[in-house]
This record gives sequence, structure tokens and C-alpha cells, in this order.
Amino acid sequence: MEPIPAVVCRLEVNGEVRECAVAPHTTLLEALRYGLGLTGSKQGCDKGDCGACTVVVDGEAILSCISLALAFEGREIVTIEGVAEGGRPHPLQDAFDVMGGAQCGFCTPGILMSAWALLSRNPSPTRAEIARALSGNLCRCTGYTKIFEAVELAASRLRGEADPVARPGVAAETR
Ligand code: FES
Ligand code: FES
Repeated sequence: MEPIPAVVCRLEVNGEVRECAVAPHTTLLEALRYGLGLTGSKQGCDKGDCGACTVVVDGEAILSCISLALAFEGREIVTIEGVAEGGRPHPLQDAFDVMGGAQCGFCTPGILMSAWALLSRNPSPTRAEIARALSGNLCRCTGYTKIFEAVELAASRLRGEADPVARPGVAAETR
């Protein structure tokens, strides 16, 4: 059988237009990880069950392992590599660190992207809304409570509320 020829796929990722060679059946996750070297999005189940591959496209969290790369040309893609601000961790990343929201960390990039999309459209989510937004992200380590608390802490910090968590040894203005 003749090999399927590769084509150039042009993706806008984290504000930058990048190109890689793909086959028609290459998934967005494969293009990101193996074409563009963005390995933060994890390849877990590779069949849409675990959420480890979650990225945000045009503001919506999607599963990149069951999405074809070529379908995402011209869309605005954000991966975990794109959420840090000014060289510093995003408040969600910092909150997961402070609250112990990650253990082995394999699920964490996907969970952060689902939470990032949620807080982008809803700065004051309830615990139930957070649980619903993260319902497609499986974590075998944390039991979820720390994850929910971390999202709530990040949301409160992003709203500019008084910080309920003092981080030992870190001055408030540097958090
Ligand atoms: S790797 Fe995509 S849902 Fe599991
Ligand atoms: S921290 Fe290990 S799977 Fe979530």
C-alpha cells in the first residue's frame, strides 16, 4: 500500500503560528507533542477517557487525542505551555502548588487547562461548577478535594480578593 503523504499543518498555538508535517489522520495531540515539541499535554488513554490531553481551542477545553490536527488550522489553541504570564506561573499553577493539588502530576496539565477555560468564562465558579468543568479529567492520586480547593484559591486571587493562603517564606508581593 502506498504511504499516505504528509501535508503541512499550520497551527496557531500560544499566540504563535507554527507549522509541522502531518498525515490526514494525525491527531492534534500528536501534532503538538511530536510535531511541535509541546510535550506538556499528556498522552494518557489516547481515546478520550482521561482528559490528560486537554487543550483550549477558541476558549473551550477539548480533548486533543481525539481531534484531528488539520481541523484546527485557523483556530486559537492554548496549551499548558502558554498559560504562564510574564515568565511567572499562572495563578492556577501557583495555587496547585500551594494547595497540594498535584501528586504524580500526570493529570495536572489537562486539569489546569480545563480550569483555565472555566475561569476565563466564569471568574466566580461554585464548587459544583468546578466539579462539572473538571468532570472529564481523571486523577488517580489526589481525591479531587485539593484540586477543587486549588481552583477556588486561584479564582479568589484572580478576583483580587484578600489572599487566604500565606506561603511560608514568600512575601505577598512576590506570590
Ligand atoms: S489522552 Fe486524551 S482523553 Fe486520555
Ligand atoms: S496527580 Fe496523579 S493522576 Fe492526578
